Amino acid sequence: MMTNLSPNTIETPVLDVKGLEAGYGSVQILYGIDLYVDPGEFVTIIGPNGCGKSTFLKAIFGLATHYKGTVEHNGSDVSGWRTDRLVERGIAYVPQVDNVFPSLTVRENMQMGGIRLSAPRLADGIERVCWTFPDLVPRMSDLAASLSGGERQMLAISRALISNPSFLLLDEPTAALSPKYQQQIMGCIDSLRNQGLTVLLVEQNARLSLARSDRGYIFSGGKVVHTGSAATILDDPQIGEYFLGVQG
Ligand SMILES: Nc1ncnc2c1ncn2[C@@H]1O[C@H](COP(=O)(O)OP(=O)(O)O)[C@@H](O)[C@H]1O
Ligand SMILES: [Mg+2]
Repeated sequence: MMTNLSPNTIETPVLDVKGLEAGYGSVQILYGIDLYVDPGEFVTIIGPNGCGKSTFLKAIFGLATHYKGTVEHNGSDVSGWRTDRLVERGIAYVPQVDNVFPSLTVRENMQMGGIRLSAPRLADGIERVCWTFPDLVPRMSDLAASLSGGERQMLAISRALISNPSFLLLDEPTAALSPKYQQQIMGCIDSLRNQGLTVLLVEQNARLSLARSDRGYIFSGGKVVHTGSAATILDDPQIGEYFLGVQG
C-alpha cells in the first residue's frame, strides 16, 4: 500500500529528510525515516503511541541524538544542527508537553518565546500573535496556569510564532482538548497556513488533521509504513480501521 510520492522537482522542499536514524543517547528510536514537506504544504504524521512521532520532530529541531541520514532545510544540510541555529533559519517547534511556563503571565511567556530578539522585533512579534490569537489579548497579564486547555495551546503556538518562522513543527496541538477547542486550534493552524507558513503536524486526531492536510505519513516502530495524499489515507478502509480510530 506504499504510494511512492517524491518531492516535486521544481521547488526545493522546505524539509527533506532522508534515511534519518535518531534517538536519545544510545537508545535508537527512528530507523531510516524518509519524509519531505514542500513549500506551503500542510503535512500530518500519525501513528500509534510510542512509535517515534515526537522523537522525529525533536530530531529535526536538534533535541534528539542524530546518528545517520540527512535533514535538509530549504536545500541546506542542517543535520545535527543546534536548536538556536535552526530557529535563526525560520524553524519553530511547539512541544507536545510542558509548552508554556505556568507560573509566568501570558505576556511573559510570549517574551520568553522571543528572548533572542531585539526589542522592536519582539514587540512586532507580540503584536502579530495577538492578531492571530485575539482571545489571548484580555489575558495578557494573567498567569498561564489560569488559562483553559485551549488557551494554553494557543499560547504555546504563540510562543513559537514570536520569532516569525516560515516552517512550524507542531506536536499534538489538540491532544486533551474539548472538540470545540480542537476545532478552534485547527482553525488557527488553517489561518497560519493561509499566511504562508509551511506546517508539519503530529496528531492523534487523525481525521481532523488529515481533512485539512495535503499529505500524510503513517509511522510505526520508528519507520514510515505508509505515505500518500491525505485524501487517499482518509479513504483507505484498511488504514481507517487501524489508524484513524473511533472518531470516524
Ligand atoms: N528522553 C527520552 N529518552 C529515552 N527514550 C525516550 C525519551 N523520550 C521518549 N523516549 C522513548 O522513545 C519512544 C518513542 O517516543 P515518542 O517519540 O514520544 O513516541 P510518539 O510521539 O509516537 O508517541 C518511546 O518508546 C519512548 O518511551
Ligand atoms: Mg508524541
